[in-house]
Amino acid sequence: MSHPGTTARFTLDPAFAVGGVNPRLYGSFVEHLGRCVYTGVYEPGHPMADADGLRQDVLELIRELGVTTVRYPGGNFVSGYRWEDSVGPREERPTRLDLAWKSTETNEFGLGEFMDLCAKTGMEPMMAVNLGTRGVEDALRLLEYCNHPGGTELSDRRGAHGAKEPYGIKMWCLGNEMDGTWQIGHKTAEEYGRLAAETARAMKLIDPELELVACGSSASSMPTFAAWEATVLEAAYDEVDHISLHAYYEEIDGDRASFLASAVDMEHFIESVVATCDHVRARLKATKRINLSFDEWNVWYQQRPNPHPVEDWQQAPRILEDVYTVTDAVVFGSLLIALLRHADRVTAASLAQLVNVIAPIMTEPGGLAWRQATFFPFAQASAHGRGRVLRVEVDSPTYPTTRFGDVPLLHATAVTDDETGAVTVFAVNRGQDTTLPLEIDLRGIEAHTVVEHLVLADTDPEARNTADQPNRVTPRAATGSTVAEGVLRAELEPMSWNMIRLTSQQG
Ligand code: AHR
Repeated sequence: MSHPGTTARFTLDPAFAVGGVNPRLYGSFVEHLGRCVYTGVYEPGHPMADADGLRQDVLELIRELGVTTVRYPGGNFVSGYRWEDSVGPREERPTRLDLAWKSTETNEFGLGEFMDLCAKTGMEPMMAVNLGTRGVEDALRLLEYCNHPGGTELSDRRGAHGAKEPYGIKMWCLGNEMDGTWQIGHKTAEEYGRLAAETARAMKLIDPELELVACGSSASSMPTFAAWEATVLEAAYDEVDHISLHAYYEEIDGDRASFLASAVDMEHFIESVVATCDHVRARLKATKRINLSFDEWNVWYQQRPNPHPVEDWQQAPRILEDVYTVTDAVVFGSLLIALLRHADRVTAASLAQLVNVIAPIMTEPGGLAWRQATFFPFAQASAHGRGRVLRVEVDSPTYPTTRFGDVPLLHATAVTDDETGAVTVFAVNRGQDTTLPLEIDLRGIEAHTVVEHLVLADTDPEARNTADQPNRVTPRAATGSTVAEGVLRAELEPMSWNMIRLTSQQG
């Protein structure tokens, strides 16, 4: 609703909730792409590398970021993935061409090393199978290698490779972006729907408890968007549990006002996919619901030229190494808010990606690891955005945008922890020049007090963290947020991401 005044308002009532936050909302993504793996998470010889070649400085940052799940090994890479090349003694692993990124893959880091990374960081693996150059049989072989306890050639091979216990990987992606013409083995919706259903059915013969993700569209702008989802789900509804969504945003032609409103598009995308899933559910007279795995999302400057010179077939080239500004971090925070606002149906999400490649963590080979500006909203949301998302209907002043018309200046969500009574508000002020006064009526929430109000904003909208200045952008405490007579009052700085934590005085 548009608002004539200058103050943004909403009401919080614990009786009105969207749904519980699935911890998998705070997932990320490691692809064999650029320097995500090599000199990212894995760099034997680095002073901080452990005996397995994993960089402990990076692992520490992953833990601090609060990543719950990790999608692997792609992305586009998975459509040419030969998993068997990546297991067993390192000296016997072949070097191959990676056609997706025109790079050379040494296979020095493979499945076992990935599982080691998961174990050391507490991340749940979310494995993708190759439905580009391969299909049902290979998916079954990989699943048997990973999850079967033993007594078969493939499960014993895993044991011989040092992993006696099965990996127990529960969540599996059935390929990647198969609607995209750039994808190796690209398919029509009919072809992919049938392959996804057949693969899923066979995988569930090995383990009916698996959770399977069918590929949705690679972007909502694809000409086949929504028809693709409907066709795929009509073919595979009973067999799959989630449909994937991918979305990347960037500032185009200096239109910052629209860029700051990117989450309007993301929320519309989510609601469109929910509607499509439920349309198929009605047509099939099905009872179960398909949930959404938003397994690639981020700010990504796809239109900018790569500042690093790269040749074809390099190993671990410097590609997609976006350096994020505080403005990007505010938009990024707003995308997180969009996911939380749909927590009833978005039950998994993967920030694409984790290290160096459009990532919250950057590294230099042999050097430092540091936090990008986008690190902070994610870490704060993962740490405090657990529990139940409350319904937030904002009544906010608006501002004009070219792409989305008039958009509320305030974008917000709130999460309550029913055990402690704590409430955390995440809020973005999209206004570039004006401070936004915020009033929250804490109806039904008794005796709360502000624990902290952290803000991410800067007088320089281009401020960013680099190897030379790794701590240029960091959150700081905002003052003046108070609760009086059941109303929280706060001031949101121009173009800012905010986390306001309230605690029950009785808690
Ligand atoms: O995350 C980078 C790439 O973006 C992924 O490999 C692909 O799935 C998407 O197009």
